Amino acid sequence: MTTLDDQARAILKKNDKGGYTLPTHGLYPYQWNWDSAFAAWGFATFDNARAWDELDTLFASQWDNGMVPHIIFHQSDPGYFPGPDVWGTGQWPETSGISQPPVAATLARLIWDMDPEAGRARIARLYPAMERWHRWWHEARCGHGPVAIIHPWESGRDNCPDWDIGMAGVDGSRVAPYTRRDTGHVNPEMRPTKEDYDRYIAIVEFGRDVGWDDARIVADGPFLMADPGITFILLRAHEDLIAIGDALGHDTTELQGWAKALRAALPVIWNAELGAYDARDLRSDAFAGVLGSGAFLAYLADAATPELDAQLDRVWDKVNFGIPSADPEAASFNPRKYWRGPTWPVVNALIALGLTSSGRHELAERLRAETAELIRQHGFYEYFDPIDATPCGGADFTWTAAIWLTWAGKAPATAVKGAA
Ligand code: GLC
Repeated sequence: MTTLDDQARAILKKNDKGGYTLPTHGLYPYQWNWDSAFAAWGFATFDNARAWDELDTLFASQWDNGMVPHIIFHQSDPGYFPGPDVWGTGQWPETSGISQPPVAATLARLIWDMDPEAGRARIARLYPAMERWHRWWHEARCGHGPVAIIHPWESGRDNCPDWDIGMAGVDGSRVAPYTRRDTGHVNPEMRPTKEDYDRYIAIVEFGRDVGWDDARIVADGPFLMADPGITFILLRAHEDLIAIGDALGHDTTELQGWAKALRAALPVIWNAELGAYDARDLRSDAFAGVLGSGAFLAYLADAATPELDAQLDRVWDKVNFGIPSADPEAASFNPRKYWRGPTWPVVNALIALGLTSSGRHELAERLRAETAELIRQHGFYEYFDPIDATPCGGADFTWTAAIWLTWAGKAPATAVKGAA
């Protein structure tokens, strides 16, 4: 009988392209940044060397300015749009021109904990690259205080309501003609609309036209919003990188300064009226005014407040499985549409890591049990309807398999150290 553990390992192997792992065949035929870090965490449960290889391949595509791209187009695939010609970054291998949530240092630290002896030389080699990436975040994206994203895709929570006010100001009417590919792989009802897609492409075209010059994009680009999700992920990652650096005998003073500055900026994304952390349009200063799952990543960075605890109870009690990506009581909520309501096992794993680090063990265990139930009922899908558990998006998904092996599939007492 194959167990779910066997199935999860088989998915990682099936999606393994040799040194990097696809999120899933068909829908996502390249290497994605934060997916890869989760893949590494999953591999670490049965092949530690392969875990480090995944991170090495990701950082091998780091740009000279320190940015680690959100997609690396190792082998061209006509089944995906927008491909390397649209991004036009001039990198080799070709890449996109934006980044994605910097979970790598946090997960590298967990992987190192799983086999400290084997990992020491591997993490020591990666450390300077991770530090350069964190410097890039600080210099290129933290000029307004919290982390600013220049494209919704940079957040990893591509289509969530957090970005609606910023997207409303983007003119998508003049983009070059194109054919989408995502809607040929999964139900179009679950994917972003054509109007959204036109705007996504318009932002990419702006970046390409200015040669991916970060200063120009931040100053004049069509979209600039503060993202609570990445802000908390980066804050946690800074702290994990400091711990790694200290253990390796590096001077971490500079990193400590970046972490301190980022923590000091948290009031900028606290929306008192909403009673929660909130995305903010940095052109107009307006808050998005919607609670998204990014706010609950505050637990990761020891930045929770009693109001946030109350919000978590409220939104969680409105659904049956996991933490929804958007507020179930908001008008924009849609339980099956991409990031506008569904629950993502991988985000649940990150929130649970935060709940555990902040001592909220019962909540972490509830989240683990609910996430495990979704996977037991339906398999390793990309995401799920949090009300009736309908599986959505791509099947045999790498990061869902990875978080099963490291967290969701573990009985509470045997979960990997540091996870839930
Ligand atoms: C989607 C998700 C993004 C993820 C990618 C590959 O674009 O929104 O977070 O990295 O798919 O799984």
